[in-house]
Amino acid sequence: MRPGYKAIYERYRQNIQAGILKPGDKVPAIRVLALELGVARKTVEAAYAILTGEGYLVSQGAQGTRVNPDLLIKHRPADPIEPGDATLGALVDIRDKSGELRLGIPSLDAFPYKKWLLLAGKSVRSMRPGDMVNPPVMGYAPLREAIASYVNISRGLNCTAEQIFITSGYRNTLTLILETLAARTDKVVFEDPGYYFGKTLLRRSVDQLHYVPVDERGMDVDYFLRYHRDARFVIVTPSHHSPLAVTLSLPRKHQLLEWARETDGWIIEDDYDGEFHYTRKVLPALKSLDAHDRVIYTGTFSKTIMPALRISYIVMPKSTLSAFKETGEITENGQPVMTQKILTAFLAEGHFYRHLKKMRALYQARRQMMLDALSQVYPHDFHSEMHDGGMHIVAFLIKGTQDRELAEIWQRHHLRVSPLSDWYSLSPKRYGLIIGYTNIRSTEDAVALLQRPQQETQALLA
Ligand SMILES: Cc1ncc(COP(=O)(O)O)c(C=O)c1O
Repeated sequence: MRPGYKAIYERYRQNIQAGILKPGDKVPAIRVLALELGVARKTVEAAYAILTGEGYLVSQGAQGTRVNPDLLIKHRPADPIEPGDATLGALVDIRDKSGELRLGIPSLDAFPYKKWLLLAGKSVRSMRPGDMVNPPVMGYAPLREAIASYVNISRGLNCTAEQIFITSGYRNTLTLILETLAARTDKVVFEDPGYYFGKTLLRRSVDQLHYVPVDERGMDVDYFLRYHRDARFVIVTPSHHSPLAVTLSLPRKHQLLEWARETDGWIIEDDYDGEFHYTRKVLPALKSLDAHDRVIYTGTFSKTIMPALRISYIVMPKSTLSAFKETGEITENGQPVMTQKILTAFLAEGHFYRHLKKMRALYQARRQMMLDALSQVYPHDFHSEMHDGGMHIVAFLIKGTQDRELAEIWQRHHLRVSPLSDWYSLSPKRYGLIIGYTNIRSTEDAVALLQRPQQETQALLA
């Protein structure tokens, strides 16, 4: 039914009172709104007249009509949020934009904004009617090509653009893989400790989730073969384990590949930050050794460019292409074309490689700053193990197990660190803080941050 003037008046009043429309916001011209709602102009005119009379709207002549900029509204306080799972309390929320030392965020001060802006402008200007229809479900073809070329050159893969499926992040990637290839009752194996958000997602979507311990050579593949040989999927972070940053050893990589070949199992390689390897040349991905096409490789631009981009990808084994296509057509929308176009230009014009080179050097330097600061401020409380790469460090507690309490203290000081023990499902656990260092600018900067919770930390650990 078409709204009458009273209904239009009510909609505006409620939206203004709820703060959805704010003082100074422009409202549509009478003619435009009348057309939009399919009502006569005078119906909208009547509603606007009452809103203006009551002081909600002001007419500014040729500049149109706005919500009264001088309006003072007392908003009803938002309903309290349900407390939910208590274990989440101690965990950093990666979507929370405030605070420092957050995990997995690239160095935001070093992003080539000007270049990005230029490419964004070009992409907008080059938009054609064909770009305005629904995006291709498996991704914008030139981006699929650019990614195939990048992973082949940099990560040692040997894939074609047809094998690339562009997704919007880890959750989308993992859900799509399981939706395509898994039965709910299939056994899925995850590293322990393991990526907290992966674990919580899998707990919800998989009936048989099992864990395999990780040591200094990555996932313990002997343990895996002894207890979970019958698994259908194993999810690993071989380049830098999440969160311990250790690298899966070459013999273990071969053992895993052999398992997959013999049992027709699938290895999901989560190569979330494989680009950031410092002490040797960047290590090729596990997928580069996969002669039998049993590895489903997954990558993301969240670490190399920015998490807000929401672009990641799957390299689908050749035998699975039609299955992924079929699932994709049913469950996926495709990703925004404009973003994909900008990213394509960034990759194809070589800016991405230059950016990675710069970031590798920067991360290595900033990691050292963080380690130096940690040993200055807390010489007796933490130790850390030096690994070949990654974007965070783990500061292990030298004694005690109170990493959750500690993380809560640090978070009160706006340091968004995460307690290591929360990332474990099996025992024994290790205890410590996972600290992102990519956005500190100097050792002094890091010292100042670490000193914020110093007194409380030392009191807790004494
Ligand atoms: C272990 C791990 N895998 C995958 C991802 C990628 O997540 P996304 O692509 O959704 O940003 C992250 C990001 O933090 C991660 O830490």
